[in-house]
Parts: sequence; structure tokens; C-alpha cells
Amino acid sequence: MSKLLTFLLLALHCLININYHHSGSVVGKVISKEEENDIDEQLKILHKPPIKTFETKGVNVDCIDINKQPAFDHPLLKSHVVQLRPSSRPKDPSSKSSSWSSSRLQQPWENVNLGSYACPEGTVPLRRTIKEDLIRAKPISKSLYSTTSIFQTAAPNPESYVQHVAYRHSFNVTNNITRPLVIHGIQADIKIDNPPVQNDQLSASLLLAEGGPKDTFSTILAGWMVAPTLYGDNYTHLSIFWRNGTTNGCFNMLCPGFVQVDSSVPIGEVFPVKSEYGTRGYSFTGLIFQDVNSLNWWFTVIANNVTIDIGYWPREIIPFLTNTANYVAWGGFVRTPPNTPSPPMGNGHFPEGDINKVSAMVNTMYVDEKYTLQVPRNVYDWENFSDNTDCYGIDFVEDHPDLGKIIFFGGPGGNC
Ligand SMILES: *[C@@H]1O[C@H](CO)[C@@H](O)[C@H](O)[C@H]1NC(C)=O
Ligand SMILES: *[C@@H]1O[C@H](CO)[C@@H](O)[C@H](O)[C@H]1NC(C)=O
Ligand SMILES: *[C@@H]1O[C@H](CO)[C@@H](O)[C@H](O)[C@H]1NC(C)=O
Ligand SMILES: *[C@@H]1O[C@H](CO)[C@@H](O)[C@H](O)[C@H]1NC(C)=O
Ligand SMILES: *[C@@H]1O[C@H](CO)[C@@H](O)[C@H](O)[C@H]1NC(C)=O
Ligand SMILES: *[C@@H]1O[C@H](CO)[C@@H](O)[C@H](O)[C@H]1NC(C)=O
Repeated sequence: MSKLLTFLLLALHCLININYHHSGSVVGKVISKEEENDIDEQLKILHKPPIKTFETKGVNVDCIDINKQPAFDHPLLKSHVVQLRPSSRPKDPSSKSSSWSSSRLQQPWENVNLGSYACPEGTVPLRRTIKEDLIRAKPISKSLYSTTSIFQTAAPNPESYVQHVAYRHSFNVTNNITRPLVIHGIQADIKIDNPPVQNDQLSASLLLAEGGPKDTFSTILAGWMVAPTLYGDNYTHLSIFWRNGTTNGCFNMLCPGFVQVDSSVPIGEVFPVKSEYGTRGYSFTGLIFQDVNSLNWWFTVIANNVTIDIGYWPREIIPFLTNTANYVAWGGFVRTPPNTPSPPMGNGHFPEGDINKVSAMVNTMYVDEKYTLQVPRNVYDWENFSDNTDCYGIDFVEDHPDLGKIIFFGGPGGNC
């Protein structure tokens, strides 16, 4: 190839930049031609021919053949056989039916009704990912592949995000696994809020399970997020994340991994309501747990009093969670670009003991080595933590007669 041609190609490579606009506001990511090619490749994998499409609020939800969903394009899942339902759900000693189900519902808020798409039999609803979604989400996704536990405050770095957290967690295991607990799941009734966040920020209420030796973790997260960087809007969405080590993983269905099995509630669904300060709020119940036979990790919710097994993270993609999680947490998580004020967490109020005035999770429990739900009782194994108490608080109620172990968390954020 002539020198001139090589030069021209190089120059082209450097010059082609694309600017994406969203709903009138510039989301403002400039990407290189190379990155654009990667994204086009990714979209080819993520887009499967829909059997049927629903359109709501400008977003397409496609019904995709359950066996042809993008998860199975993951190199390790080529021969994975879809598991249609959990072998069993964790045993729940506090429930009449002894298995985890809506019969255990006892909560201070109204159990929300999640959207229903009625996909034809054998198909599952997937929010259609568009190019803009992948471009917007890239920096924040990348910033979460790290050698540290995800709830640890990442050292501020100009490339990355500043993170703040307020949560209750199992401890002694984050850095130094001195006495790992055997944990096969975690659950809570989660109040739904809608904190105001700026376009590059994220504010979330999450359940976390993490496993792995020091410096390498498999992580799964589930709960709600307000994240214009992921969704291009300010709604509160049912959201997940997974990663393995420092390279693989993503939010929601932005990469092959999570297997959707429920035919009506997609990952990323918008909660139709939000709690208002001082009045009875809304909630859903979330449970992430390991299947006793397949060792896959399920994400199950109770919405409108109905138990819905949304789908699972196959064991293949999160190898450090195969035997057990050794670190779990319930709480709030925010991210913001460096040198910007941090967004509100929860409903933006500090914990003040009134369940209708602050964000909270009630009936916090974990799944023990016998696949039975347990109240986190031993005070030496659990503690609450806020990395910046000027901005975000966490409070804890030991034993509420109806609502078990309660955590209150949140705060206004600001210059933390
Ligand atoms: C973990 O162990 C290392 C060395 O063994 C020590 O330097 C570090 O302070 C410990 N971290 C915690 C959180 O205890
Ligand atoms: C979200 O809300 C913020 C603050 O009100 C606003 O600046 C931003 O434009 C909104 N983003 C979207 C995508 O609607
Ligand atoms: C859910 O069940 C609870 C307890 O049985 C009941 O009080 C509540 O009205 C039900 N909510 C809905 C949306 O059906
Ligand atoms: C998970 O991460 C570990 C450590 O980085 C790596 O050795 C392994 O290949 C990864 N597995 C998958 C499925 O990503
Ligand atoms: C956790 O670590 C602390 C400090 O190293 C120690 O005092 C405590 O006994 C440990 N708790 C458990 C449950 O191992
Ligand atoms: C955890 O909660 C207890 C009870 O509310 C409180 O006394 C303690 O200060 C909290 N710890 C942290 C680190 O916030």
C-alpha cells in the first residue's frame, strides 16, 4: 500500500466522529470509527427478528424466540439449554406456603403493577437496544469493570466516575475473606423512588451479590435505577447489571448474558408510579438467588402480588458465583462524573425513621447454605455503611414486628 493511501486511511480514521442527539438534548458522545464498527457488530448480535413488537413511550419491546435471544450468542452459552423456571425457590420459614412467594407479602407500601406485554408463547419481551443506547452506556459500563468489589468507592479518576454508597452488607469478606458466609441469595421489599439526576449520572436502589477471591469478582446487581446514561430518560427502571472480572459484563441486556424467561415483564421496564414524600409509597419485592440444581442465579420479583421469575444469569458467565456468594448488600448507589455534584440517593432525604419520608427496604433477608431464607441476625456478620455521611445516610431497624429488618437510606448528594 502506498504511503499516501495509508496516511489517508489513518486521517479518515481520526476524522470520522459522530455526534448523537437525543430528545433534543445532546447526549454528546463522540466516538471513533473503530468504536462505531464495534457497536454495529454488537447491534447485529443484539437484534433478533421479532415475532411481535410493542411500542410504548418511544421504546420498542420485541417478542423474541426464547431460544434465539442474544444471551445464546455468548461464546460460553452456545450449547446452553434454557432453564424455563427455577427448580425451586428458597424456603421461607416465615411464609404460610413455606416457599418464597407472594403469600409472604406484608409490606407498608403498595405493591406496584409492572407492565405486561403478553408475548406469544415461546417468546420473551426484550427492550430493543439502539445504537445511541450503546454509545451512552459505554463509559459507565466500562467504569464498573474493576478489580475491587463494586460497592467500594472507586478512587476518583478523570476517566471514570465518582461513586457513593449507603448500604447494609455482609462484612469481613470484601477485601480479606476471613470467615466467608455461604450465601445463596438476597431479598427485600424495595421502595420505588425517582430521584432527579443529570444526564451523565445514575442513582439506584439495589440488591448485590458478589463472589470471588481478592482482586477478581463475579458480580450481579438487581433493583431500580434512574439512569439517563442507560435509558435516555429520567424514569425509574427495573434494572440489572453483571460483570466478571475486569472485562465482561454490562447493564441490563446491553450484551449477551442474562437469559430472559418471563413472557411479560422485560428487564428495563419503567415503573409506572413513584412514591411521593410523606404519603404511602410503592414498592416491589426483589429476590436474587442461586438455583439449587443448575447453580444459575435467578432474578425474581413480586409485582402486583404476583411472583414473576424474570430470568437468570447463567453460571457460565459468573464463575466466581458458582459455589456461593461471599459478599451481599442492600442499599443505594450513585455515580457521577468527576468534579460534578453527586445526585440524590433514594428519595433525596436522609433517613428519619418514617417509612413514607425516606427510601427504604424492608424484610431484608439472605438465603443461607441450606437454601433457606434467613434474617441477617448475627451482628458480627452484618453492618451498615455510608462512605460519605454528609451526603447520604443509612439507618437500620433491628426487629420490626411486621417488617423484619429494615434499612432506611438516602440523601441529597451535592459536593460530597
Ligand atoms: C486486608 O489485608 C491486607 C493485607 O493482608 C491489609 O493491608 C488491609 O488493610 C486489609 N483490609 C481490610 C479492609 O481489613
Ligand atoms: C433529566 O432531568 C435532568 C434534570 O431535571 C435534565 O437536565 C435532563 O435533561 C433530563 N434528561 C432526560 C434525558 O430527560
Ligand atoms: C396484595 O396483597 C395484600 C395482602 O394480601 C393486599 O393488602 C393488597 O391489597 C394486595 N395488592 C394488590 C395490588 O392486589
Ligand atoms: C472471569 O474472570 C476470570 C478472571 O479475570 C477469568 O479468568 C475468566 O476467564 C472469566 N470468565 C468468564 C466467563 O468471563
Ligand atoms: C470481622 O473482623 C473483625 C476485625 O478483624 C473481627 O474483630 C471480627 O471478629 C470479624 N468477624 C467475623 C464474623 O469474622
Ligand atoms: C448503623 O446503624 C446504627 C443504628 O442506626 C447506627 O448507630 C450506626 O451509627 C450506623 N453505622 C454507620 C456506619 O452508619
